[in-house]
Amino acid sequence: MNVFTNAASADPWAEPYKIKMVELLKKTTLEERRHAIRQAGYNTFLLRSDDVYIDLLTDSGVGAMSDRQWAGLMRGDEAYAGSANFYHLSETVTEYYSYTYTVPTHQGRGAENILSQILIKPGDHVPGNMYFTTTRLHQELAGGTFVDVIIDEAHDPASLHPFKGSVDIAKLDALVERVGAARIPYVCIATCVNMAGGQPISLDNLRQVRLWCDRHGILIIHDMTRVAENAYFIQQREQGYADKSVREIVHEICRLTDGATMSSKKDAMVNIGGFLALNDEALYEKACNLVVVYEGLHTYGGMAGRDMEALAIGITESVDDEHIRARVGQVEYLGRNLESLGVPIVLPIGGHAVFIDARATLPHIPQSQFPAQALAAALYVDAGVRVMERGVVSAGRDKQTGENIMPRLELVRLTLPRRVYTQAHMDVVVASVARVMRQADQIKGLRFTHEPEYLRFFRGRFTEIDAG
Ligand code: F0G
Repeated sequence: MNVFTNAASADPWAEPYKIKMVELLKKTTLEERRHAIRQAGYNTFLLRSDDVYIDLLTDSGVGAMSDRQWAGLMRGDEAYAGSANFYHLSETVTEYYSYTYTVPTHQGRGAENILSQILIKPGDHVPGNMYFTTTRLHQELAGGTFVDVIIDEAHDPASLHPFKGSVDIAKLDALVERVGAARIPYVCIATCVNMAGGQPISLDNLRQVRLWCDRHGILIIHDMTRVAENAYFIQQREQGYADKSVREIVHEICRLTDGATMSSKKDAMVNIGGFLALNDEALYEKACNLVVVYEGLHTYGGMAGRDMEALAIGITESVDDEHIRARVGQVEYLGRNLESLGVPIVLPIGGHAVFIDARATLPHIPQSQFPAQALAAALYVDAGVRVMERGVVSAGRDKQTGENIMPRLELVRLTLPRRVYTQAHMDVVVASVARVMRQADQIKGLRFTHEPEYLRFFRGRFTEIDAG
């Protein structure tokens, strides 16, 4: 039983939808999978989806759209300028998320690029509650340096802190002391921090960050990719919010921030799309200047009209209490079952994924030999379940020293697409993980055979190191 779940949520939950269309899955043989992972250089990103049985690589762009969203596609207004769907999207963002201006982008990193270019000057420092891969890279490409200000508990997979996504205000103070407020363009606040294991920030902590930023004249930019899941955890765990709806809490979170980058491929359940949202008119003008260079006209910014329509509808569905309870409930189901088998997972169980602690699972593989990458490959080979590394490979190299960044969290992420798989699929995943755990001592470390310069986890290739 989840110690954080309040009494009302102890009732069984069910998916608040029924299935209208299905996509058939394909199984492969062990031999085929061994061949496929070698061909993919032990990188699950390089597998063909045809070779995958249950795909838990990511929750990005892989959600199942509702019949209403599909109907919305038919209402696409593909006018080059001033599409009706843009205005619908923009009004929905203001109504649900409070932000005044919306700049559509092709996906989250398109928004991150524009935001970083308009706000960061070379030599600036950007504090954030843990890094995200693309977010940090755009900050660095704009000449900034990311500074981690998340609470220490976030780096400890076993800490049961209910809001591990929270900011340590003392770390913000130390940064101002060191570089001065003028070198900090904004604080980047992610809701349901991906790299920490899908861990939420509390509203109380966000309010403290707001006060701190007001005192220093610094903006807050919200990475709102998984804001609905964060709001659900606030409803379940934070005093005073049990009677508030997820929709109300989402609004309250957004109102405490000055702008946001959004990858709508997650919470909002569309296959592609994102936006930059801002309240300040002058910043909006700067963003419009750049969006026409990198994405498209400011009223479509890289998205088709039909996709903006599906997104507007997806936003309304994403904050539905029943939806989010079932969504997080499924993640919890998977996590609890793995935990009961003694699999070391990040606790508390996060909002979008279950993260296995690869250091604890594979103590015989040093972090320099990429244990999480090796475990992800082994999981695929066992039953065709595809997962992702979130450890030293994802962390990349220090831009000053060129050395591997060795994060404390060396994790494998089992990520759940929204509204896609059933509990029975989860049971198959649990059985596969259990089998791999029993033979964990046979898994070998890896070394790079190809290491791309940027975001190396996407396209890097590896080979096994023979213990000799
Ligand atoms: N911010 C967060 C917290 C994310 O998780 C992602 C994407 C992005 C920004 C970038 O958005 O992919 O639309 O350009 N995360 C995916 C994942 C890729 O699998 O976690 P994008």
